[in-house]
Amino acid sequence: MTHSSLDAFAAELDRVRDDAERMLAAVTDPAGLEEARIALLGAKNGRLKHAQRGLGKLSTADKPSGGKHFNAVKQAVDAAFTAAQLRIAAVVAEPAVTAVDVTLPGRLPRLGRIHPLTQTIRRVAAIMGHLGFEAVEGPEVEDPWHNFEALAIPAEHPARDPLDNFYLAVAGSTEPALLRSQTSTVQIRVMEQRKPPLRIVSLGRVYRPDTADATHYPMFHQVEGLLVEPGITMAHLKSVLRAFASSFLGGEVHVRFRPSFFPFTEPSVEVDMEWNGRWIEMGGAGMVDPAVLEAVGYDPDAVSGFAFGLGVERIAARRFGVADIRDFYRNDVRFLEQFSDRGWA
Ligand code: FA5
Repeated sequence: MTHSSLDAFAAELDRVRDDAERMLAAVTDPAGLEEARIALLGAKNGRLKHAQRGLGKLSTADKPSGGKHFNAVKQAVDAAFTAAQLRIAAVVAEPAVTAVDVTLPGRLPRLGRIHPLTQTIRRVAAIMGHLGFEAVEGPEVEDPWHNFEALAIPAEHPARDPLDNFYLAVAGSTEPALLRSQTSTVQIRVMEQRKPPLRIVSLGRVYRPDTADATHYPMFHQVEGLLVEPGITMAHLKSVLRAFASSFLGGEVHVRFRPSFFPFTEPSVEVDMEWNGRWIEMGGAGMVDPAVLEAVGYDPDAVSGFAFGLGVERIAARRFGVADIRDFYRNDVRFLEQFSDRGWA
């Protein structure tokens, strides 16, 4: 048997490698890649398979070095093929990426729902906004001046008892601080900074060391309303609360005032609302005490105002028919799932 020369075999292998690299570098789509694969790596008639047959024709002495050369070329062709494969995959994926139109409106994710308390807060702010009340925020960590003194709650007042408040030790400060126990603090902050006329609403968290039960939670939310301008009376307060209540609850709502006491309002009332045949206590309200107006630099002979503070959990529970406000904080999906994910129904 005549043997082929090692040189000729090696030259053929190098041609296969060069052709393969050129061919694969020119491939631009999956069809071209498949064509190149069959031509180069095809099991029957591929160029490599064809070249491999030449290995059998080498002399026994030349076979080891021929085999080595063949393996090197095969690896080079395989590598060129893989590179082309990756390049084509990227090209194919690219149109989808470049096809994203960033000017299209976003889509709401279908995961989760807006928490009923967040829905309530947004709804309350929107209704009060329609009534002309601007939403404002205040800090949750307060000083005793804004939480107590400016609201006519003096140092010895039982409402300041450490057992009824969350006092804080603030690192590096000797100033007393506490988690606010009511959103009435925001009334003071706004009046200190602005002149009447004033119509604001403030919604936020407040903290009291109350034992949790069906109507109490140690952290809850209040909505505070304040209106100050010349000639304001209790009749305005009742009208605004009635308008708010019928808008919030929907349908026929009655508002009732019961005499009460708050150090910063005179007269003071508890606000009850009747809806679907049941009366429920919603919060406190009253005419801003002239002493409070004076303390912030307003003239009580020129302006008067009303203020109210309602419990958000209580009004949300009423609106949604929830019997126990602790359900709002249990994070049980079976409970939360019942509230529309599109916000207020
Ligand atoms: C106040 O906090 C006054 N700042 C309200 C006010 C504002 C009066 C402006 C006058 C003028 P009161 O402590 O009653 O008042 O709380 C108001 C409402 O918060 C209550 O009627 C109730 O709805 C809610 N509330 C009170 N404590 C809790 C609690 N632990 N958990 C949930 N809701 C509560």
